[in-house]
Amino acid sequence: MNYRDRAKQSSLRAKEEHKAVLRDFIQIRGVFDLRMRQSFSPCIRIKQRTKNNAIIAIGAVVIGGAVTYSLWNHFHPEETPSKKAAVPLKTGGTSTLRQFDLSKAQLQKMISDFQYEMDVGLSRNGGKTSLKMLHSFVGKPTGNEKGAFYALDLGGTNFRVLKLDLLGNGKLGASEKQQFEIPQEAMRGGAHDLFDFIAGCVERFVLQYNGPTDPSNTIKLGFTFSFPVNQTSLAAGTLIKWTKGFTTEGVVGRDVVALLSEHLERRRLHIEVVALVNDTVGTLVAHGYTDVNTELGVILGTGTNAAYAEYTHNIKALESPFHREKMIINIEWGAFGDVNDVLPLTSVDKKIDQNSVNPHNQKFEKTISGLYLGEIARLLTLELAEEGTLFVGTDVKTSNFIKKDSFPTATVSQFLMDNSDQLSDIERVMLNQYGLSTSRRDRALLKEVSLAVVTRAARLSATAIAAILHKINRLSDATVAIDGSVYEKIPGFKVTMENTIRELYPGSSVKTELARDGSGNGAAIIAATV
Ligand code: BGC
Repeated sequence: MNYRDRAKQSSLRAKEEHKAVLRDFIQIRGVFDLRMRQSFSPCIRIKQRTKNNAIIAIGAVVIGGAVTYSLWNHFHPEETPSKKAAVPLKTGGTSTLRQFDLSKAQLQKMISDFQYEMDVGLSRNGGKTSLKMLHSFVGKPTGNEKGAFYALDLGGTNFRVLKLDLLGNGKLGASEKQQFEIPQEAMRGGAHDLFDFIAGCVERFVLQYNGPTDPSNTIKLGFTFSFPVNQTSLAAGTLIKWTKGFTTEGVVGRDVVALLSEHLERRRLHIEVVALVNDTVGTLVAHGYTDVNTELGVILGTGTNAAYAEYTHNIKALESPFHREKMIINIEWGAFGDVNDVLPLTSVDKKIDQNSVNPHNQKFEKTISGLYLGEIARLLTLELAEEGTLFVGTDVKTSNFIKKDSFPTATVSQFLMDNSDQLSDIERVMLNQYGLSTSRRDRALLKEVSLAVVTRAARLSATAIAAILHKINRLSDATVAIDGSVYEKIPGFKVTMENTIRELYPGSSVKTELARDGSGNGAAIIAATV
């Protein structure tokens, strides 16, 4: 094929792509986005004016580039370097979708509400707050802690036991880990089922990596328990409430360290539980061990929450002594919105809350975390189908798509990653999993739904992070340590978060970093300080 044919062919391909994009935009949005028109029109004009083949070729390349760029922007607004990553979604079309588009003004209002509730939580002065600002009795690590320490990490659907060597000088050595799936009867049964299961896993692990324990060789263990706990000291705390689908009876209101110790003793294990740690606190400590600029520990996974270090003299509600300048506070931000009407919730969020095992609780968590994002996307899709925007002529109600929790958050990620022309991954999933055949327009809209849900989650979490960093005056050179599948696995989540922080505080320099396994490692480091 000669140069001229190639140019002609690529010009034709570009034209086709251009038409497909226009079709989507006209169908989905009803109107042509002005910005899109601006980015296309110079290219179109160049092409119309010229008869010279060389210029046609250049025009084709430019059109191809603009189409690819516009498509990329359309589906990945958060990943476009300088541009609108900070700008909310460009989804237009239906007001159902637009509810998920949060303006800068809405986010700024959320910052002041969040900071106000943090202050009320710190002072417990009788004001209304959903931020519990729980005391951890942990300071920031020095990096000098040394030795081999054990931890167990309970917080989501999995449970981990680990052994970690601390080398001092901010260096972590070898680690051993084992993961166990928590059986349903332990999550939903009684306290004995859960704690006996945990003690059994610890026994297996310790026998393998330490050998039998005896009174002269007691093992120190840090217990990461990722639920809201009222701590009265480093190694004592009562469960306030369950979250993330746990409903185990007989634990709320009881000291979880005492429960664990009792079940370890029953197995004649000489293990002392020296620290009770929330996963956010563990993440902050583990990352802070190697990076002194770490200001926040955040979890964006099955559940969500954050911890930061506060001056002890500001923690007016503190009743037990603590002799370090700062104490790490477990904010329990997942409950934000439970007490005051501070979240811009949609009709879908209300349904999620009503259908959950803990209605009226963890409203912020229900807009952000991995346990809910797939379900939000599913319910939003159903609303669009009901109003006739999607699946026109198809009876969705007789498909598997109607089943609660049938659309996992991992599928939301999968949809976002489908960059094929025909969105064939989406087509396959919808057909194979739900028996639904889709038009290309349906699939483009399904991708928009995923983007809308995920972008809102990233912007909301970034706003809470910005609120905390602003409050402690650390908007420059701060590292935010984050663990969890939402942050790690959803395409574009990190970029959208960082851009949102810059949008809210121009000139700030905040980086977010993955802190995998921080929750368990942090508990081992804290155990080393005892
Ligand atoms: C819990 C927090 C935890 C977070 C992340 C929330 O549901 O209440 O304590 O830190 O999930 O695991």
